[in-house]
Amino acid sequence: MKATAKAHTNIALIKYWGKRNEDIILPTNSSLSLTLDGFYTTTTVAFHDDLSRDVFTLNDQIIEGESYNRVTKFLDLIRNQSEKKHLFAEVHSINTVPTAAGFASSASGFAALAAASTRAIGFNVNDEELSRLTRQGSGSACRSIYGGFVEWEMGSREDGLDSHAIQIASEKHWDVRVAAVVLSSTEKKVSSRAGMKRTVETSPFYTGWLDSIPYDMKEIKAAIREKDFEKTGSIAEANCLKMHATTLGANPPFTYWHDTTMRVMQTVQEMRENGIPAYFTIDAGPNVKVLYLPENEDKVKKVLEDIPGVSDVTLSKPGPGVTYL
Ligand code: DP6
Repeated sequence: MKATAKAHTNIALIKYWGKRNEDIILPTNSSLSLTLDGFYTTTTVAFHDDLSRDVFTLNDQIIEGESYNRVTKFLDLIRNQSEKKHLFAEVHSINTVPTAAGFASSASGFAALAAASTRAIGFNVNDEELSRLTRQGSGSACRSIYGGFVEWEMGSREDGLDSHAIQIASEKHWDVRVAAVVLSSTEKKVSSRAGMKRTVETSPFYTGWLDSIPYDMKEIKAAIREKDFEKTGSIAEANCLKMHATTLGANPPFTYWHDTTMRVMQTVQEMRENGIPAYFTIDAGPNVKVLYLPENEDKVKKVLEDIPGVSDVTLSKPGPGVTYL
């Protein structure tokens, strides 16, 4: 009744931004990501018959509140499909991802939780089934079941059976690097969950976002297949800007960007003018991720570290899917 799993986070090159079903987490658009080897969560789940509630520790701290509720809600989903509905679990997670700073720590977190809890309770699930279950913990997490380049197919069914991730190309296909540029480790003000909800409900730019997805998706898949870095990077950067533009049209309007976020974006564009191919993308927080090729690693790192307001630059290669320890 105990299992340990490790999952890596992922960075979306085509963003998931909006739900058509908030309860079982079904998205309004397909998305595509790269799993990263640098940031991961290792989670041990042990079901016991002498617990009166679930216990959740993250980096050795007992967690309560919203994060605890999301974990127990996910465990309910697993328990209720088993014969062990009465069992509570001890969940220990160790996270190398700065939590709630726009690094999608929920992605590696829920992927590791789903893998460890299903195995601990005795389910024999394949990757597709695991991705579908993981999706119900956190949408972006369903992509972290797989390594490398991963698409989350939005699906069209109301029961979500066709909404899960698939691998487009493994982590060995193409060595594209990602620099995670950390500006601030403070909690973000609008969570991705609340931000996408407000945008779907109120932003007049939201339909433009949705209209642009099929083309972006088709083009980036071809670019990844051909290992065309400029095409991949420019589609990802433009897709990120479209997503963030929708938040400015929301009511009330909001943005995830800080002044340093914009400084990093400008610096990346200047690097390109100076002959270093690099592209940025940003999730629901102020930090920036920069895509570059291995041969430019030293230059890219130095330029990013020298930007005033940047506190840390961590480099990552394409990473693997879920593993069991
Ligand atoms: C901007 O997966 O954190 O990072 O499904 O509500 O848990 P929930 O949202 P979450 O949203 C991630 C949004 C994003 C884009 C992406 O990762 O595709």
